[in-house]
Amino acid sequence: MVGGGQGAYIGNIHRLAARLDGQWQLVAGAFDVDPERGRAFALSQGLDPARSYGTWQEMIAAEAARPDRMEAVAICTPNFTHYPIAKALIEAGFDVICEKPLTATLADAVALEQLARDSGRFVGVTYTYSGYPMVHEARVRVAAGEIGAVRTVQVEYPLEWMATAIEQQGNAQAVWRTDPVKNGRGGSIGDIGTHAYHLAGFVSGLTLDSLTADLATFVSGRALDDNAHVMLRYQGGARGLLWSSQVAIGHSNGVRLRVFGGTGSLQWYQEQPNELILTPLEGRVQVVKRGAPDLSEDAQARTRTPPGHPEGYLEAFANLYAGFAEAIRARAEGREPDAIGRNLPTAWDGLKGVAFVEAVVDSAEAADQPWLRPVAV
Ligand code: NAI
Repeated sequence: MVGGGQGAYIGNIHRLAARLDGQWQLVAGAFDVDPERGRAFALSQGLDPARSYGTWQEMIAAEAARPDRMEAVAICTPNFTHYPIAKALIEAGFDVICEKPLTATLADAVALEQLARDSGRFVGVTYTYSGYPMVHEARVRVAAGEIGAVRTVQVEYPLEWMATAIEQQGNAQAVWRTDPVKNGRGGSIGDIGTHAYHLAGFVSGLTLDSLTADLATFVSGRALDDNAHVMLRYQGGARGLLWSSQVAIGHSNGVRLRVFGGTGSLQWYQEQPNELILTPLEGRVQVVKRGAPDLSEDAQARTRTPPGHPEGYLEAFANLYAGFAEAIRARAEGREPDAIGRNLPTAWDGLKGVAFVEAVVDSAEAADQPWLRPVAV
């Protein structure tokens, strides 16, 4: 692992998720931007002192020379570091599990996706919400035509944690997220809008054609957007609306997706992740529950406990880790992956996410936003 040291957020979630199915072992790490703190943290995790590295450069050089070298590396660092770290890993022959957004710039994302393709290395991107079994169930049902042709997709990711200028009080996560160089051009849209964008495309099966965006920065002194409204036009004519916000007081991780087709609709809400709401045209609302025996293979492959024993965020994250392990094994064995190793977020999805953020910021910064019209009364 790179990043995810003392006081960091997502690295610990990766470690917990990777452990859940016993398919991964943490063998080496460069956990912190501060080499001493990183080494101390590695030791606190029970790592071999010889594999408790101060920097990721040191780790790659040393591990590449070991007969029992690490196989894949999880990158859990701020966005601007993803590209150099992933590039060096791929060039040294390692598989990569990279946090979103894939990179801080579009040029880096294009280069990284190309490198991943040319090298044959596996690059998984942790779009967490595509780990949930009921999100897979929704995807399968939309693809099977259960709600008819998709007309509109409504997706939102509201958060409240940056409703005040916590970056000015030294909040470690907010400090780099509000720095355009370290974070990239998209504030809320890059941080959580990318999740929403991926989720909407994953479930609907639609490919985005174009968009128009309205970005706002409500907290004064902040350089990047903390609220984004984006209108989406998908290929084939379907429409979408995406809202991401870091200032939505009252919401913690209220990811919600609604997909409306010609004969029905589907709704999934991450705070009730074990349920999918399916409403056919005649209006009889159905609650499709995780664990039911008639769910798709894709959902069942990502289910561990019987219905009624809730599964959530950690299990969804673990599904990504189990999927990445299966994809890597299948490649080594020259076979197709099992259900859990299919439909995984990869470098291509990561690149699409960064391209989406670029288009959103370009749209919002365009001087001649053609859709903006004064209202007469
Ligand atoms: P954080 O600020 O909590 O942690 C970053 C960690 O990286 C720290 O331990 C820091 O010391 C370390 N680090 C920084 N530069 C380093 C370097 N050169 N070498 C080694 N370590 C270095 O950040 P957070 O919130 O954990 O975010 C990290 C990444 O994860 C970001 O790309 C973010 O977008 C993504 N993320 C994804 C989530 C998801 O749902 N999939 C949720 C939260 C974050």
